Amino acid sequence: MSDIERDHRELPRGIELIKGDYSGKHVVSLRQFDPESISLLFEITDRMRTAELREFVPGLLEGKHILLLFYEPSSRTRVSFDSAAQHLGARLSVENNPQVFSSVSKGETFEDTIRTFAKYTDMIVLRHPEIGSAEKAAKISEVPIINAGDGIGEHPTQALLDLFTIWEHTGRLEGLTGVAAGDIKNGRTVHSLLDGLSMYPGNTVYLLSPHELRLDRDDFEHYEAGGLNLVEIENPTDIPKDSSFWYWTRTQKERFASLEEYEAMANRYIVTPEFLNQHGNEDMVLLHPLPRVGEITEETDSDPRAHYFQQVQNGLHVRMALLTLVFGRRF
Ligand code: NCD
Repeated sequence: MSDIERDHRELPRGIELIKGDYSGKHVVSLRQFDPESISLLFEITDRMRTAELREFVPGLLEGKHILLLFYEPSSRTRVSFDSAAQHLGARLSVENNPQVFSSVSKGETFEDTIRTFAKYTDMIVLRHPEIGSAEKAAKISEVPIINAGDGIGEHPTQALLDLFTIWEHTGRLEGLTGVAAGDIKNGRTVHSLLDGLSMYPGNTVYLLSPHELRLDRDDFEHYEAGGLNLVEIENPTDIPKDSSFWYWTRTQKERFASLEEYEAMANRYIVTPEFLNQHGNEDMVLLHPLPRVGEITEETDSDPRAHYFQQVQNGLHVRMALLTLVFGRRF
């Protein structure tokens, strides 16, 4: 079976592959991507990054109107999309918490909400608590849907900036050994990152988590079938010494049935400078999608391997590049 056929089989129904052409397409899953499309995005990201802010073409997205539709809380994703849109001269509407402030509170369906907002705007950036919601929106929306997180499903734009940060540090995305730690079961950023890494040959990811927060078996098989080598561990002493990156995550409190269940799982692995020296190596990079809630101490921030705030910065440039490409503009 060719790669393209395999990708088609695993893609959400009705969602197109990017294949080097982002123009007008929904971005709901990392499974739409391939290495060439990622390289193109990184090329534009690099240009966005190296240009002085005043040199960004403020007219690049002139006449375009973007809606940020966020059913769940967000800091980095929402404000970086907002900032990216404004740097490029797009107009912007922000609907936070539509469950309270829009007709959703009167019982309007998700589908009608999407149909309505698609009439006013040229793109909808959507965050929603339900897995598959971005795909559902994409099937009925006249304008591109960008998935900014669908429950425990995916968070493709976060994975793109995570991959960019790994690439920036290592110069490659293949033949890497890395660690993803924390809530692997519920962490959507990890899911998209694993999809991203499985596109490239020779990658191995050690998944460090309590047994209860392991990947669902279906997901585990999906990534392995995609060519990624996964090793599940529960003890930090099993972290490989030759990791290029560590991807730490928080335990996803909002996905647990009770506070007790959450507390029993939270903060099993806390990165401190000593932990980093004990289990890491000199050349690795420490990443985290943020927010952190105790699993990396503030003393760790001054360690040159701590790159999570660089990730935050990269998020702006990656999203500027993505908006530019989806609107079919050149930069
Ligand atoms: C993540 C998310 O919302 O999935 N945050 C983010 O977008 N940077 C990670 C998290 O909430 O743990």
